[in-house]
Amino acid sequence: MSQPAPHVIPYTPRPLQWRFHEERSRFCVLLCHRRFGKTVAAVNDLVRQALRVGRDDWRAAYAAPFLGQAKAVAWDYCKRFAGAVPGTRFLESELVCVLPTGGRIRLLGTENAQALRGLYLDDLVLDEPADMPRQVWTQVLRPMLADRQGRALFCGTPQGTDNLLYDVWQQAGADTQGLWSRFRFPASETGYLPQTELAAARRGMDEAEYLQEFECSFAAAVRGAYYAPLLDAAEREGRIRPLPHAPELPVHTAWDLGMDDATAIWFFQVEPSGCWRIIDYYEASGEGLAHYAQVLAAKARPAGAADSSMPEGSLAGRGFVYGTHIAPHDIRVRELGTGQSRGESAAQLGIRFVMAPALSLADGIDALRRQLPRFWFDAGACAQGLKALRAYRRRWRAGAGQGAQAQAGSGPLHDWASHAADALRYAVTGFRPQQEVAPGARRARTNYDFFGGN
Ligand SMILES: Nc1ncnc2c1ncn2[C@@H]1O[C@H](COP(=O)(O)OP(=O)(O)OP(=O)(O)O)[C@@H](O)[C@H]1O
Ligand SMILES: [Mg+2]
Repeated sequence: MSQPAPHVIPYTPRPLQWRFHEERSRFCVLLCHRRFGKTVAAVNDLVRQALRVGRDDWRAAYAAPFLGQAKAVAWDYCKRFAGAVPGTRFLESELVCVLPTGGRIRLLGTENAQALRGLYLDDLVLDEPADMPRQVWTQVLRPMLADRQGRALFCGTPQGTDNLLYDVWQQAGADTQGLWSRFRFPASETGYLPQTELAAARRGMDEAEYLQEFECSFAAAVRGAYYAPLLDAAEREGRIRPLPHAPELPVHTAWDLGMDDATAIWFFQVEPSGCWRIIDYYEASGEGLAHYAQVLAAKARPAGAADSSMPEGSLAGRGFVYGTHIAPHDIRVRELGTGQSRGESAAQLGIRFVMAPALSLADGIDALRRQLPRFWFDAGACAQGLKALRAYRRRWRAGAGQGAQAQAGSGPLHDWASHAADALRYAVTGFRPQQEVAPGARRARTNYDFFGGN
């Protein structure tokens, strides 16, 4: 094994690139505006690591969505920066850079990452993971890091929420072990692109496109999104993060009860200051009420206690003491088969719902939008619900244009995202502060209680 040599790479990191190099952890997400210098920073981070570690069996990969792209964006940087270290060799046909320590950096495209199975990696860069299939990370690349506890860096510009970049951004935000770190550098804060250039870009782009490419907005790609911009703000303000359950406060639930559809449940706590702590989310479909009653019971067990009666091992006890359970007013409707309403069926299972008032959808959405700035979310437990909230958007009239008038009155789209959005809307419209109960009380009794305290 050769000694690490004091080589100088001809690279002067910009201040925020420097911050990234110094503060990154084993897994890192670097979310930046276009032309920030992500690729330059990523390549140099690999070169520096190779030289620091100094092992001749050190192996790293720089992955772009396609091999041609990896070559076009990173091979010249490898040559410029690693090439300045005496003794570095470049294997052109394999796109491998061999440093004088013996460490190797290989360029690859995720379109042929399967070919790597069986190898190990000490270090990895995924450049633009929003364009990569998720399984390439979970099934191919992540396992290659396991032998040697290799590092991984994800760097890119947001492209909406249904992709690997958003997933790992959320994962990093939810991490409490110090394994993950994440950085968000929008153009308005870095100052790396001249104002005149940004102004020109802005004139030539849709506002949403501009926010995505230069301001690191995940919301922009979801056209007509109701809540995504507010969730971007929550993210910026640090309100989506690991958020423990506050044992001194009751946990309220708000439900969207699907018949053949999915059922979504938010778990939240309301602080005396009026801030809401949204601490958990559960969604399933094709299950009866008994299943959800079991989920609630599992979460009410002492923290950490597993419930062996639940099929999902993930439902560890959280020590929840429940306050109010809120459901839409249609739980009063009697079902044909049983002649019983779902509210009554739930009460037999120990869940006594209060009903959210029958507001119009538009009023409910407005109410939730007004409240969202006071919400804090647990990034991990609420990840699935947050994703749906971000994706909840307007329906577009067939043949309508893309202008603002075309959106007017077209209403929300009913899709996979609407259950989470509806349930949180009921939370806001149905919750009354006087329903707060002390922990230990089994149920809230209020004049909203549909079952009239029986
Ligand atoms: N530390 C630095 N000092 C000087 N120039 C730099 C530095 N870092 C990056 N650059 C220059 O900034 C430009 C953009 O760099 P890079 O390709 O790494 O950006 P990017 O964020 O990956 O962009 P894209 O969004 O297009 O992928 C390049 O011309 C690069 O040479
Ligand atoms: Mg790049």
